[in-house]
Amino acid sequence: MIPERFIEELKYRSDIEQVISSYVPLKRTGRNLKGLCPFHSEKTPSFTVYPENQSFYCFGCGAGGDVVTFIRKIENLEYVEALRFLAQRAGMTLPEEARDDGTALLRTKILEINRESARFFFDQLAHGPDRRAIAYLRGRGLSDKTIKRFGLGYAPNTFDSLKNHLKGKGYSFEEMAAAAVVGKGKNGGYYDMFRDRVMFPIIDLRGSVIGFGGRVLEGDGPKYLNSPDTLVFKKTRNLFAMNIAKNTKEGSLILAEGYMDVISIHQAGFDNAVASLGTSLTAEQARLISQYVNQVIIAYDADGAGQKATRRAISLFEETGVKIRVLSIPDAKDPDEYIKKFGPARFKLLLEGSAGAVDFEIAKLRQKFDLETADGKVAFLKEFCSLMAGINSPVERDVYIIRTAQELSVSKEAVADQVAALRRRRAGAAEKKARRDIRPYSESAAGQPRDLERSRNIRYALAEDKLITTLLKHPDFYDAIAAKIRPEQFVTQKNRELFEALWQRLQNRQDIGMMSLSALLEPEQMARVSYLLASAEGVAYTMQEAEDCMKTILEYQSVKTPDQVAGMSNEEWLEYAKSLAANKK
Ligand code: CTP
Ligand code: MN
Repeated sequence: MIPERFIEELKYRSDIEQVISSYVPLKRTGRNLKGLCPFHSEKTPSFTVYPENQSFYCFGCGAGGDVVTFIRKIENLEYVEALRFLAQRAGMTLPEEARDDGTALLRTKILEINRESARFFFDQLAHGPDRRAIAYLRGRGLSDKTIKRFGLGYAPNTFDSLKNHLKGKGYSFEEMAAAAVVGKGKNGGYYDMFRDRVMFPIIDLRGSVIGFGGRVLEGDGPKYLNSPDTLVFKKTRNLFAMNIAKNTKEGSLILAEGYMDVISIHQAGFDNAVASLGTSLTAEQARLISQYVNQVIIAYDADGAGQKATRRAISLFEETGVKIRVLSIPDAKDPDEYIKKFGPARFKLLLEGSAGAVDFEIAKLRQKFDLETADGKVAFLKEFCSLMAGINSPVERDVYIIRTAQELSVSKEAVADQVAALRRRRAGAAEKKARRDIRPYSESAAGQPRDLERSRNIRYALAEDKLITTLLKHPDFYDAIAAKIRPEQFVTQKNRELFEALWQRLQNRQDIGMMSLSALLEPEQMARVSYLLASAEGVAYTMQEAEDCMKTILEYQSVKTPDQVAGMSNEEWLEYAKSLAANKK
């Protein structure tokens, strides 16, 4: 940790107006400054700098934060790196980070241990006495070059070979356990985590080994054992083989389910395959992919689980705006098996023909209904029309409608009319809704992913926003607010995290200026803080209003879901309705 005193000093020497104006020409308007946003392309300035609270916010794309956030975003740096950057600018030297807190040092040790372990596993595979693992990998068709490229390895069937090897290199058992290559038993002893497994090192974008996946060779135990999260490894944030795929010239990434699929695809001549790490795809991974390419090809397993995962992935990618294609794999259970059965050339053809997300949805719908019967056709067409109504491009709609009408031998016009009617109805509903809704913060701003939890709970979210803003503007209200509400009672996760961060600092009587917050919060959250402050310009936030907000938030606890309401008896329901009415007073 960098001492607060240092950060305070840095803050005084890094005036946001001066720092930002070396990147963006700023023009003064009243107390604030305006410019063209460096984070998205725009013709009229919506990027605003607030010298008063040392923050910035763009009303066009929702970017915002303090001077550190700005540097992180524009220079693409981690928090500490951004501090170092600003320190250099201000002529200060960053204090040795490891001095007050061992974390940075331990992190370095873990990375060393991981690298050393990967080397050990590789040596065991290539030269160790037990030849089963190398025979297994060769049996699965991997060349020595591929094995080397991915740094595959073998963890021997003992409890102490890696442990002893690392000990010999001077690492302590605690450090090994922190890297999670060694576990700690109940009796306090340490043992190798991976035994008799083929090892797949997981390498981050900078080329560091951050964790492992290990596949059983024989015997029991889970098929794959993956490193748990450690100081250097967050499995929801990383992708297998992204270190290689990030350099692809393809403009697209192939997302597969398993390590072996990725490796086979690479060996078949494609350098752009990645996989998530033993968990289903996360929003963070989808975003990461969309930062590197504008097209993703989902190549999950052909089984039911794979198809379900495909739908999930499609909805995550839809929020990022990346173009989605889906590879359906005929006559094989996964890409690895397909390549083995039919060869790389056929796989390339498959890739070139991979259907878009709509084709995938249509194919799924067809499987759901029996199209040989009239009833089946009608039911299918109903859902088909609904799917079509969601497509905005008329040409694209036509393509699918014409093809499907032909295949089902029904009139193309009839289907098109049905879709048009549905679209009119939906447009009407959407317009009404738009008139009713207040525009919640930057959800509608370009480039911002939609936050479903927030939209569903917009009433509570807005009250939470206001309560947080009040606290930002009046930290002295903390005691009064703390007496009535706790972070756990917040409804939406993002606000809960933000409130929690403020809460913890205020509880310890620490300040909550922008600079101290950016040590705790991710840039995305810093953007929200700035947004809240930007919209609070010139508005007084009173304790009375804070009370109202808290009342609204706390009401959430007593509101039942529609399902719960449906399951109530008449008496229960009346009782419940009355209690809600009483709350409102
Ligand atoms: N997985 C896991 N734990 C398991 C099974 C699977 O973490 N017990 C993860 C692994 O990341 C694996 C992926 O899910 O790579 C896909 O699983 P599966 O299709 O079973 O594995 P494959 O990669 O196809 O492995 P193989 O071909 O070696 O059987
Ligand atoms: Mn497989």
